[in-house]
Amino acid sequence: MSVEHGTKAPPAPADSRPKVAWIAGVGAAAGLGAAVARRFAAAGLTVALTGRTGERVRAVAAQIVAAGGRAGAFPGDVSSVDELRRVAVGLRPLGPLHVAVFNAGNAVRGTALELTPEQFESAWRGSTYAGFLFAREALPSLLASGGSLLFTGATASLRGRGAFVAFAAAKAGLRSLAQSIAREYGPRGVHVAHVVIDGGIDGERLRTSAPRTAEAGADGLLDPEAIAETYWQLHQQHRSAWTQELDLRPYKESF
Ligand SMILES: NC(=O)c1ccc[n+]([C@@H]2O[C@H](COP(=O)([O-])OP(=O)(O)OC[C@H]3O[C@@H](n4cnc5c(N)ncnc54)[C@H](OP(=O)(O)O)[C@@H]3O)[C@@H](O)[C@H]2O)c1
Repeated sequence: MSVEHGTKAPPAPADSRPKVAWIAGVGAAAGLGAAVARRFAAAGLTVALTGRTGERVRAVAAQIVAAGGRAGAFPGDVSSVDELRRVAVGLRPLGPLHVAVFNAGNAVRGTALELTPEQFESAWRGSTYAGFLFAREALPSLLASGGSLLFTGATASLRGRGAFVAFAAAKAGLRSLAQSIAREYGPRGVHVAHVVIDGGIDGERLRTSAPRTAEAGADGLLDPEAIAETYWQLHQQHRSAWTQELDLRPYKESF
């Protein structure tokens, strides 16, 4: 059969596989990363979970599968170029990527005179740098799907304090990264949003690291499932009315 000049190739058939959400920064089942994964799985997406502790990531994925969802564990360190590449290639067969959530974070504490240069660098690597690597891996697929790229921020994203010199610098860098990516890739169809979590999250991390903070009383801490609902709503927004940044705090948090 001859092909005539000027004949356009037929459009590629739409990918009929379920959409994929990739959540980077999944640890405890009682944590934000796991809650976001559960929310997107409940909406019918296949969720790919990444965190450094394989055992924990697999446990959260198994919990989602047991509840009737589709989930895969893809352990790895998102601050490592090679590991992140391996993870990104590994989750490709799952289906088309529509949502990428960067939730990793390490709240390194210490003043400028207490922290070592290595600790400062490690905070930056785990947030700003890892966020950049993650965005680089996710963006090509999100540009193709018109998906969402969501970043988890903290109070420190907007405000520095003595003992948070490293964490605040790292989170402010992540916020700036998210804003820069939004300005470049938003007009090309990728919804980029940064969520400022302005308060403690009622999860395993706070309960073990700061048990006194965890005694904030009813709804004095952010419920991870409630935060996850907001991530879902961000993904659902119509592109004529996109949020680039929003903040979430418990009703009794002073700010
Ligand atoms: N907890 C709070 O009170 C609070 C308050 C405000 C903002 N936030 C932000 O919320 C996010 C986390 O929420 P969460 O505290 O509930 O914790 P979470 O979502 O339960 O866990 C996040 C997980 O990210 C993983 N992670 C850290 N660095 C990583 C890396 N380089 N590569 C891959 N995975 C990595 C850690 O697991 P592994 O160590 O096993 O890798 C950690 O368990 C962070 O961005 C944090 O800054 C937390």
